[in-house]
Amino acid sequence: LNYNVSRERSYILQVLFHGLRRLEYRGYDSAGIAIDSSSSSPALPAADPEAPQSSASAPLCLHPQPHVFRQEGNIESLVKSVYQEVAPDLDLQESFNIHAGIAHTRWATHGEPAPRNSHPQTSGAGDEFLVVHNGVITNYEVLKETLIRHGFTFESETDTEVIPKLAKYVFDRTTEGEGEVTVTFSQVVLEVMRHLEGAYALIFKSRHYPNELVACKRGSPLLLGVKELTEDGKSVSAFDAFPSANENPKELFLSSDANAIVEHTRKVLDIEDGEIVHLKDGGVSILKFDKDNGELGGVLSRPASVQRALSVLDMEVEQINKGNYEHYMQKEIHEQPQSLKTTMRGRLIRGGSCKAKTVLLGGLKDHLKTIRRSRRILFIGCGTSYNAALAARPILEELSGIPVTMEIASDLLDRRGPIYREDTAVFVSQSGETADTLLALEYALENGALCVGITNTVGSAIARRTHCGVHINAGCEIGVASTKAYTSQIVVMAMLALAIGSDTISSQERREAIIDGLIELPNKIREVLKLDQKMKKLAQELMAEQSLLVFGRGYNYATALEGALKVKEVALMHSEGMLAGEMKHGPLALVDENLPIVVIATRDACFSKQQSVIQQLHARRGRLIVMCSEGDATVVCPGDNCRAIEVPLVEDCLQPVVNIVPLQLLAYHLTVLRGFNVDQPRNLAKSVTTQ
Ligand code: G6P
Repeated sequence: LNYNVSRERSYILQVLFHGLRRLEYRGYDSAGIAIDSSSSSPALPAADPEAPQSSASAPLCLHPQPHVFRQEGNIESLVKSVYQEVAPDLDLQESFNIHAGIAHTRWATHGEPAPRNSHPQTSGAGDEFLVVHNGVITNYEVLKETLIRHGFTFESETDTEVIPKLAKYVFDRTTEGEGEVTVTFSQVVLEVMRHLEGAYALIFKSRHYPNELVACKRGSPLLLGVKELTEDGKSVSAFDAFPSANENPKELFLSSDANAIVEHTRKVLDIEDGEIVHLKDGGVSILKFDKDNGELGGVLSRPASVQRALSVLDMEVEQINKGNYEHYMQKEIHEQPQSLKTTMRGRLIRGGSCKAKTVLLGGLKDHLKTIRRSRRILFIGCGTSYNAALAARPILEELSGIPVTMEIASDLLDRRGPIYREDTAVFVSQSGETADTLLALEYALENGALCVGITNTVGSAIARRTHCGVHINAGCEIGVASTKAYTSQIVVMAMLALAIGSDTISSQERREAIIDGLIELPNKIREVLKLDQKMKKLAQELMAEQSLLVFGRGYNYATALEGALKVKEVALMHSEGMLAGEMKHGPLALVDENLPIVVIATRDACFSKQQSVIQQLHARRGRLIVMCSEGDATVVCPGDNCRAIEVPLVEDCLQPVVNIVPLQLLAYHLTVLRGFNVDQPRNLAKSVTTQ
């Protein structure tokens, strides 16, 4: 930040805290920040001279130690502790022309949530180098052993701690005996990168380089945002050129997620793998990491700057606000009529009198022929995205005639399952960043398959690494439990089935019925959302239960899995989605008059089979909740103690889009009634960027 243009006291803290709140959905078990301090700031506890140090000396610590705060718990605990305990004493306003800060919210992977495991991680006493990290360093154990041999001691159980310590080691080695800093901050980071394996987006801060930040990435997302300011602190209207140092005052942002940036600026640059971003004197330079860049200690080359144009984020601030809703999950459930419309916008062609209705998926047009010739289509994803693909599988098989196999990304990797050049592998991911899905994508690319991405995040790793794909355009999803992305994913995959399937005369009626069904879908979802209060009542009846089973089959096997997943992940109630055809091969043993069981029995080719499942459950005194088509309650319910949830009937392959909504509402209300955190369920994260 060019601090002199900011009027408010502790503006840097506000910007960082606000950014963290916007990222909280990605991790919420601990948080931390580091900001510059000035010589006029009250002294914080000095480095303990007795504390273990690296064997290398640190002769050049000329600049004040940054302020570092780390706290277990959510962002508000950090905010509270900083404002109540420390900030009143800090004179942040007067001290800086340029002010640099870093912040992080964590979802624990290595080490329990605790201040010592929170980021920024430090190089040791004196905080010479501080690092925030998104991702995982896979060779941290080897690095740790080496650094310990060089006299470093470790405080945390994190993989990240090796990074600032490595930076200090590199810095000390190159400045030893020089009497002055002869290496730039980005050169230090470049050397650090050379030793790191795994996935990371990193931001470095150092007291050797006050008012500077260096960031780099490999595998994990990183964005640079640029907001130019006029002297009075207002944003300037036109900004086209890439900024260089000493231009107009500006605020520069680095984030793993556009949500933290969009309120400040929509001018962004997607940082690419291997790039190093150096913020200095209010300007930016971007360098490209190359293994042959030379080596510190010898002559470190200065890699050429990368020049790229900024792009404009296609995102509105309203998308990331809750509006009139209590929770993001609630908002996202209720905005499905709109999100589905946006998903389909410009992609369904109604056709004139003599022109058949058809589908246009621009991102696939150059690859459709290859997909049609594939020997097999693999759907690959995790969690809700996997379930969405499962819901679309039958229609893709029907319309394309190509065998479709389902793969949970981690399982495919565990088995190293065979993938061939003649395969089309479709990667489904809301975030586009899920580590398991991304690794499965690398595996499929190595094996020569055509790789198609279906994601909600423009510029995400999956969107960039696949050969072609479709964005689901559901709008930003913040609730950790995916809702609107699920329905939009199914709709995109139904459109994919239409695009791949051949437009023969015999299939025309079916295709047109699906397209008509798609066009009508937002209205049908609006109707089904009217069940909200009914689902709340059902949640009141079920809130004290320990378990809930959901039986589905055919198109709605996925609905059973996804409905149970929602209940499990947010309401923290044990719930299993089961294939109704398997009921008599085991699950029937669980049935008694106490265990609530949802059976999905809307009208389709499996209807009569589901009626017989209901009869068998009733015969064992099962406590039934049947989801059926409107007007069918009396047809499907065998007795008085059976509850019916009536939903509008749509084309069979689109029925999962309608049927999931009451179960989303049920999970939402169960969570609120049981007193759990709807948007940040225990132990879960929105996007899991580690394996
Ligand atoms: C996490 C989330 C799930 C999500 C899954 C896959 O586990 O908690 O809600 O379904 O990741 O995420 P993706 O972004 O790849 O769809």
